[in-house]
Amino acid sequence: MSSRITMRALLQTSLNGPQGLRLITGAPVPNPGPNEVLIRVTAAGVNFVDISQARGTFAGGPQPPYLAGIEGAGEVTAVGEGVADLEPGTHVIGTSIKGGAFAEYIVVPAAAALPVPTGWGDEQALGLAVNWPTALAALKPLGGVTAGQTVLIHAAAGGTGQAAVKMAKHYGATVIATASPGKHEVVRALGADHVIDSRGTDIAADVLRLTDGAGADLVLESVGGAALDASLAATKRVTGRVVVYGLAGGEAAITNWELVYKHQIHVTGLNIGILTQAAPQLFGEVMGQLSELLAAGVLGPGQPTTYALTEGPKALTELEARTTVGKLALLP
Ligand SMILES: NC(=O)c1ccc[n+]([C@@H]2O[C@H](COP(=O)([O-])OP(=O)(O)OC[C@H]3O[C@@H](n4cnc5c(N)ncnc54)[C@H](OP(=O)(O)O)[C@@H]3O)[C@@H](O)[C@H]2O)c1
Repeated sequence: MSSRITMRALLQTSLNGPQGLRLITGAPVPNPGPNEVLIRVTAAGVNFVDISQARGTFAGGPQPPYLAGIEGAGEVTAVGEGVADLEPGTHVIGTSIKGGAFAEYIVVPAAAALPVPTGWGDEQALGLAVNWPTALAALKPLGGVTAGQTVLIHAAAGGTGQAAVKMAKHYGATVIATASPGKHEVVRALGADHVIDSRGTDIAADVLRLTDGAGADLVLESVGGAALDASLAATKRVTGRVVVYGLAGGEAAITNWELVYKHQIHVTGLNIGILTQAAPQLFGEVMGQLSELLAAGVLGPGQPTTYALTEGPKALTELEARTTVGKLALLP
């Protein structure tokens, strides 16, 4: 058990986005309840969901004031009643949608704490619990990617997108990636076959040109807004799939008229938290496949861009402004 009573943490004080995030020094160190563990956080993962929560667009999200951050890696320092398979001293990466990772300590359900892979530092495991399973679920069980197919991956230079590019290439797909100018070389170095400017005017036309007019077999759609219509138009008729798992660019509608007369394609929604709860067996299969990808070296230790905990508002501002590349971490 930690002997500390209070800790430093980032408190989201409003729904005005990153500027509502404040450092506090007297937050109580939480106690693990039954089936929970207390983690001394050495690195917290920044996710786009932190922006969605801070802007109030995350369905059922926390109301301010709340301790922000859903992903924390570090050392287990205490376990609650009923926890048998984790003990103090174990290094884990844990998630809690209730927040509290942007802090020196966080409590997470024991079931949501994964051991940090042997030989990896805590911060190198960030992504393992949220971004990578999301990318894999979108590609494989939901997206059904197979060798020789073409996959369009939006936000390919981001935390989730980079993992998706590596995995799609491993599965033998041709990858068309989108990213802001300035990030294209990063995405090419990951193995993407074609990179399109995500701020360009006609992504659908570019994809159709690159696929001889056929369209992509699978689209990983995390942008929404105007990009959603481009994604639908860039998808192969009848057999093509679009897995929608994010709306960084805002909400967009799809109508039944469009599905009948304009976009005869498959559209699937993905929320990794709901997948974990509603389809635990499928989630277990995804995590099993992820372990195989780690063992095969397809996904190696991450190299997040690090910020001090005090720089949390800056990190989130940059993520929202689309100026970041890859995974971001806050170091308490
Ligand atoms: N459903 C789930 O369970 C789940 C789980 C994990 C992540 N996600 C979603 O996956 C996406 C990526 O998450 P991440 O944490 O890995 O973030 P990220 O990709 O590292 O950062 C977001 C990226 O999205 C792109 N983007 C396009 N339009 C944008 C806009 N209007 N505002 C901000 N960004 C925009 C930007 O890339 P370019 O500037 O290079 O285009 C930006 O760098 C997010 O939409 C997130 O909500 C969903």
